[in-house]
Amino acid sequence: MELSITRSKNLKSKPDDANLGFGTIFTDHMFNMDYSLDDGWQAPRIEPYGSIEMDPATMFLHYGQGVFEGLKAYRTDSGQIQLFRPQENLKRLNRSCRRICIPEIDEDFALDAMKQLIALEKDWVPGAPETSLYIRPTIIAMDPFLGVRASHTYRYFIILSPVGAYYPGGFNPIKILVTSDYVRAVRGGVGEAKTPGNYAASLLAGEKAHDAGYTQVLWLDGVEQKYLEEVGAMNIFFVIDDEIITPELNGSILPGITRKSVIALAKHWNEKVTERKLSIDEVIDAHAAGRLKEVFGAGTAAVISPVGQIKYGDQVITINDNQTGPVAQKYYNAITDIQYGKAEDPLGWVEAVT
Ligand code: PLP
Ligand code: COI
Repeated sequence: MELSITRSKNLKSKPDDANLGFGTIFTDHMFNMDYSLDDGWQAPRIEPYGSIEMDPATMFLHYGQGVFEGLKAYRTDSGQIQLFRPQENLKRLNRSCRRICIPEIDEDFALDAMKQLIALEKDWVPGAPETSLYIRPTIIAMDPFLGVRASHTYRYFIILSPVGAYYPGGFNPIKILVTSDYVRAVRGGVGEAKTPGNYAASLLAGEKAHDAGYTQVLWLDGVEQKYLEEVGAMNIFFVIDDEIITPELNGSILPGITRKSVIALAKHWNEKVTERKLSIDEVIDAHAAGRLKEVFGAGTAAVISPVGQIKYGDQVITINDNQTGPVAQKYYNAITDIQYGKAEDPLGWVEAVT
């Protein structure tokens, strides 16, 4: 497939790297490609960033048939631009596609197209510490039709956004609330797919958590409401004694690439890391016994995010004196050093763009 490039004639002014928030600024160009039953995926093109025209009956708008990804491009000290495990995101995109009945894309082609878009926008990759260019590949159902079935037409697009820290407090402990009132996902549902409905489902609990002074919700399993699953935009790790524990992938948790990277690094360093069912009661008991050393989240947007406080019902536990602990710090440093090209890449995770 031939990728066409149409350059924007009205380039935007770039933001100040030192004051970037998350997800409000978009670059000059985007990638678009369309799918139809007759032609498959076709007409890949990089063109000026702009609106997508939609019929009000567009199926995505009504039934949410869509999937997305989130990854980042990093600027190294020598000015190279690089990606972190982008093949993993494209594999997960296709797994999400299968779950939501969306035709899969060619991963090699998609990676090449993504790299071409980022190369064209390389001046948008910020250089201040802890900043990056967030990449949002998305596929949406485009048929104008009100019946419930899988669409016959789709749009795949990629937009880019220069970003700083996801949580306004940066790399500092956050407070999370365990909710028993709502669940995010259930066995057999779409929890492990990166699909918009999961995020819509999380909003009300998220708002209530905010109102109570908590940054995010820590979800329990949707069947027994007993086992820990994940946080709104990241997976979760517990350090009990000298063991790093994260909930096992069970179909309702998003299989995070940062999560997978923490586990791989722990194994590489011969540290004790376990994927298993972990109940909220076990965490509270471990805390009471002085065995819960640290809790931290892991995600692309959130990177490694220490958790300083967890509330569950009437119980509030404070972890590591509400300070960033050595384990979270070590994984944060190791992962970001690889991402920004400051350290060796022992597991071959970095993919050069320029
Ligand atoms: N869980 C949820 C619900 C997420 O939205 C994310 C972010 O993508 C993650 C976990 C972490 O996944 P990853 O490390 O691939 O970004
Ligand atoms: C990510 O970490 O990429 C996410 O998708 C989290 C959130 C912005 C949805």
